[in-house]
Amino acid sequence: MSFDTDKRLFGEARLNHEQFPHLPTGPVSTVPYTSEDYLARERDAIFKRMWLLAGRTEKIPKKGDFFVKVIEVLNTSIIVVRGQDDRVRAFYNVCRHRGTNIATGSGNCKFFTCNFHGWVYDTAGRNRHIADESQFFDLDKSKLNLHEVNCDIWNGFIFVNFDEDPRETLLEQLAELAPQLNDFPFEEMQVAGHWGATLTANWKLFLDAFQEGYHVATVHSGTINEYYTGERNPYCRPSSVRLYDRNRGLTIPFNPKFQIHASEAFAIKTGVSLSQGEEGLKKEVPGINPEGDEYYSFDINAIFPNWLLDTSIGFFFIHEFWPIDATTTRWEATMYFPPPVNAGALISQNQSIALLRDAFREDIATSEGSQAGLMSGSLKEINFADSEITCRHLYEAVDQMVNGNWHGTRVSS
Ligand code: FES
Ligand SMILES: [Fe+2]
Repeated sequence: MSFDTDKRLFGEARLNHEQFPHLPTGPVSTVPYTSEDYLARERDAIFKRMWLLAGRTEKIPKKGDFFVKVIEVLNTSIIVVRGQDDRVRAFYNVCRHRGTNIATGSGNCKFFTCNFHGWVYDTAGRNRHIADESQFFDLDKSKLNLHEVNCDIWNGFIFVNFDEDPRETLLEQLAELAPQLNDFPFEEMQVAGHWGATLTANWKLFLDAFQEGYHVATVHSGTINEYYTGERNPYCRPSSVRLYDRNRGLTIPFNPKFQIHASEAFAIKTGVSLSQGEEGLKKEVPGINPEGDEYYSFDINAIFPNWLLDTSIGFFFIHEFWPIDATTTRWEATMYFPPPVNAGALISQNQSIALLRDAFREDIATSEGSQAGLMSGSLKEINFADSEITCRHLYEAVDQMVNGNWHGTRVSS
């Protein structure tokens, strides 16, 4: 289905909902953003069952490389390790003797040694040594390997699933987004910036701040506003929206009237940048702009449940939203650029990184403000605009799963 872009950006018709008529339009409850009981249900219905992002393979390029990932909502941490056979596996970070965590941080090793009583495991999780073994009773060492967690990889993204018998494969869960993004050159890029914060906001509330443009003109008036708004699209509406079963995507256009500053013009000329404008559109990058939108800037791909994969003309960035409790979220954002080929490219990348850093700070401040307001209890409901349809879609997808409906009502047309 395609719509006239100007009508979508200017008009009074509520075209996103027109495109997805099965999605409700009424107010939604504030309970899912404030309640510990609701988070407990999300834990059981979603986080214990679905493929969750653990990291990228370039974090562990060599045999024996590992990192520990803490997943607070499941009260656990896991070790993700590249074994001596080059296979990437994930294990509960729990010694089979008395439960001690056996690794922290990241590094490279041939063996993990528990620092409580010295049991040893290899990088395939096999129990290789039990100190003073003869003192135990009828131990079968081969049954005391590290507990493995399901692990799979798509385009360098490592996922884990804590369900012993996952009800979907990773590709089934990624669904429509996998073919759309398959050809994007993820492997040509490397980490260029990384930010994180633990903030007082529900994980969905904070995720919503990064999947709608309605707030850009107000919250980001001093940073990124002019890149995206302007007379053609004053409220930064998306130029296209894709709602799938639980995943979703939207495209944000740039402001064609944006007057680039001299320093930015230099940055853009020398490398990929957040604000590439018309210059960027000359580049051929597969896997972006799925609906061929005019003045394309970037896509936000929301991968259920809790992360965003934003792709653009030669760079991408990731947001992860990990609930700690109903009103506390650990957020991590990572920016990926191609390795800078010269000093100019480095300047260009750093210009984008500095700009994003400032914008993210603005998002944190308003999200904590929203959460504080919701905690007052004075608001029982929230109204989402048509341009916030992605926030509504997350609300509905979560609510359907929490209520035991694995696939929910498919909202795509
Ligand atoms: S808890 Fe690990 S060796 Fe005792
Ligand atoms: Fe924002």
